[in-house]
Amino acid sequence: MWANVEYRILKRISPGNPDCCSGSVYEGKSKLAVLLGEKLLAKIRGKTVIDFGCGEGAEAIEMAQRGAERVVGLDIREDLLQRARQKAVSAGVQNVCLFASATLEPADIIVSIDCFEHFAEPAGVLRTMGALLQSNGEVIVSFGPTWYHPLGGHLFSVFPWAHLMFSEEALIRWRSTFKSDGATRFSEVAGGLNQMTIKKFENVIDGSPLKLASMELVPIRKLRLFHGRLTREFTTAIVRCNLVKRESTTPGITEP
Ligand SMILES: C[S@@+](CC[C@H](N)C(=O)[O-])C[C@H]1O[C@@H](n2cnc3c(N)ncnc32)[C@H](O)[C@@H]1O
Repeated sequence: MWANVEYRILKRISPGNPDCCSGSVYEGKSKLAVLLGEKLLAKIRGKTVIDFGCGEGAEAIEMAQRGAERVVGLDIREDLLQRARQKAVSAGVQNVCLFASATLEPADIIVSIDCFEHFAEPAGVLRTMGALLQSNGEVIVSFGPTWYHPLGGHLFSVFPWAHLMFSEEALIRWRSTFKSDGATRFSEVAGGLNQMTIKKFENVIDGSPLKLASMELVPIRKLRLFHGRLTREFTTAIVRCNLVKRESTTPGITEP
C-alpha cells in the first residue's frame, strides 16, 4: 500500500529512465588518469595487468596502448566483454588484451575502477585478487559513490538520498518501468549494486588476503568543509586505495 504511494511519487518525479551514470563526465578524458593519476599509467608499462570489472574495456585498452605487456579485462557481463573485444580489435590491441569472465593469469597489478559498490561478493573478489596477484604486486582501487553518498543509489538516486528515503520495493518497481532485466532487489540489477559503505569496505578488506597500503577518501567538493571521520559516509565522493598481499612488505603507494 505505502510502497504503491512511493512508486507513484517516483513516477511523478521521474517518469522515465533518468539516464544517470553514463560516464559522460569522462568524455574526451582518460578516466584512469583522472581517477588514479598519470603515475599509474607509468607504473603499468611492461606489466601484466588485470582490470577487474572492466565493463566495455576502455581502461583495459588504454592500458594496452600505454605500454602494458598484457591486459586481462574481467567482467561478469558477456555483452560488455563482447563490446570490449570489438573495441580492442578497432584499437589494434587485440593481441595484448584478453576479455573474459575469469582468468588464471598472475598479475603484477590489478586495477578496479568503479566496481566495489557493484560486486555481489566483494569478499570473494578480494580472495580472487589475492590469488591472482604476484607476491610483490598491488591492487589499485577507485570506486564510488558509496551507499550513503547523496547519489549512492546510482540510478535509484532520483534526487539526493532518494534511495534511502524510498523503499527498495517501490524503487525496483519504478525501475522496472524502463529496465527489463527482471531485477527484484538492488543486488539483482544488471552489473549489481551491493549497498557498499566505507565501513563495510574496510571490514571486508580486514577479512581478506590483502591489506591496505594506502587509502584516500576524496570529499564531495561542495561538502569538503564538513568532511571528516564522523561524516565521511555522507560526504565522500570517491574511495581510492592500494592493497598489497598481507605477507608483502612492499608499500605499493600510488600518489594520484
Ligand atoms: C560501473 S561498472 C565499471 C566498469 C569500468 N570499470 C568503468 O570504470 O567504466 C561495474 C562493472 O563491474 C562488473 N562486475 C560486477 N560484478 C562483477 C564481478 N563479480 N566480477 C567482474 N566484474 C563484475 C559489472 O558487470 C560492470 O561492468
